[in-house]
Amino acid sequence: MRIIKAPDYQSMSRMAANIISAQIIMKPKCVLGLATGSTPLGIYAQLIDWYKKGDLDFSEVQTINLDEYKGLAPDNDQSYRYFMNQNLFNHINIDMKNTYVPDGLEMDSEKACNDYNNIILNSGGVDMQLLGLGNNGHIGFNEPDEAFEKMTHCVKLAESTVQANSRFFETIDEVPKEAYTMGIKSIMQARKIVVVVNGSGKAQIVKDAFFGPVTPKVPASVLQLHNDVTLVGDAEALALLDL
Ligand code: F6R
Repeated sequence: MRIIKAPDYQSMSRMAANIISAQIIMKPKCVLGLATGSTPLGIYAQLIDWYKKGDLDFSEVQTINLDEYKGLAPDNDQSYRYFMNQNLFNHINIDMKNTYVPDGLEMDSEKACNDYNNIILNSGGVDMQLLGLGNNGHIGFNEPDEAFEKMTHCVKLAESTVQANSRFFETIDEVPKEAYTMGIKSIMQARKIVVVVNGSGKAQIVKDAFFGPVTPKVPASVLQLHNDVTLVGDAEALALLDL
């Protein structure tokens, strides 16, 4: 595993964006695995900036996102499809037909997950997967104790997650109770993985995930078994590592 320590969020974002743009430049028809959440926002802003300056071309790139809430339409501002359109896709020259997010409107979970597995398979596999890290070590929506061998599957959201999300909806009934996520096995099949972390709140889990035992109790710890992982973090998130 490579560990890249950046002084702050801005430089962490620029370094991770540099790694992603190198991937695009070396293989213009590449498949990028993408994540939502707050950590990658600076990376997406940087990629947009370089695209606008003429340094990056997304015309042949395919993207495959990690996860989506079951039951949310693409135009719902809480959906991950909406997030990706707003924060990246609408601002670059990617062909929208080449951007994939699990279909939140497909209520048949088995079909939604099989379709997504086929999309990944037909793409030829993810060249570079970008991951954020949950405070409890989750990756995608793979929470502690999720089996390592799963491909895309439907997960029930913890009651605490449903409660926390309820502030974004008018009634609790509208809050998604389930989500589709690429499984640990799907994530581990990516050729390269880039994990981004920032802030002191992530320091302990970064240490546990990358230097503690490999266990389903800390889903991200499985990444220790992948042979091409780059961890890019700011000084606060990497503070507990003995580098
Ligand atoms: C997002 C995702 C999540 C986040 C994680 C970290 O698609 O799958 O696993 O990467 O929750 O979120 P932030 O970046 O908001 O700390």
